[in-house]
Amino acid sequence: MSSSGGEPQPLWTDVDANLASLFGADDDAVQEALEHSRREGLPEIAVAPVQGKLLYILARAIGARRILEIGTLGGYSAIWLARALPDDGVLITLEADAHHADVARANVGGAGVRNVEVRVGRGQETLPKMIDDGEAPFDLVFIDADKEGYPDYLRWSLQLTHSGSLIVADNVVRQGQVIDASSTDRNVIGIREFNRLLAEDRRVGATIIQTVGAKGHDGLAFAVVL
Ligand code: SAH
Ligand code: DHB
Ligand code: MG
Repeated sequence: MSSSGGEPQPLWTDVDANLASLFGADDDAVQEALEHSRREGLPEIAVAPVQGKLLYILARAIGARRILEIGTLGGYSAIWLARALPDDGVLITLEADAHHADVARANVGGAGVRNVEVRVGRGQETLPKMIDDGEAPFDLVFIDADKEGYPDYLRWSLQLTHSGSLIVADNVVRQGQVIDASSTDRNVIGIREFNRLLAEDRRVGATIIQTVGAKGHDGLAFAVVL
């Protein structure tokens, strides 16, 4: 875990800052979004800068035109994903907290990205409604909301994607807690179930990469819909 309160920082925190700077993942627009989110009292749990850039690279690499994000917070990852979209592309991002959504809309506008629609509501309500309404499939889904919801988010994502779509999920290692089969933490239980479902589902090819850096020890899941 990265430290605070004047304690020494782990080496990987410094390395992450170096890499973010080297690869231009800390430009003014995204930094301003983080600062505005902090001033508005949002928790500091956005993806790390180099991870934001990874989301941009993935979306760009697959030529994503329609992206779905579950868990907007202040719109930091949304800005990175939306930067990869063509002019006629769209990012729909789902957020339960109306204040987070307001901050995200301001941040997205401030960063000059267009075609981002922030939908307020719990994913547990919004996603089944999108499926019922016959929402067109998405090329990329980024799952990053409540960890208990991850198993359902995977099921719904598979109904909102097509062959070749990419599903990415954040926080799937959680400081290694994910290998603790006796954990009673509902977040850990949700992630463990998500990882098992993802690994066993024959409709996807999937893997998980552990990450270390500004966000401590965690992991990202990647799945391609077959
Ligand atoms: N993707 C963001 C971080 C998201 S943090 C980034 O990297 O910049 C998780 C967000 O999910 C929080 O804003 C939280 O309010 C939201 N959230 C929590 N439970 C939710 C739910 N059931 N449905 C939708 N959003 C939810
Ligand atoms: C939490 C949520 C996140 O999306 C994240 O990246 C880190 C922590 C959390 O709810 O604790
Ligand atoms: Mg996260």
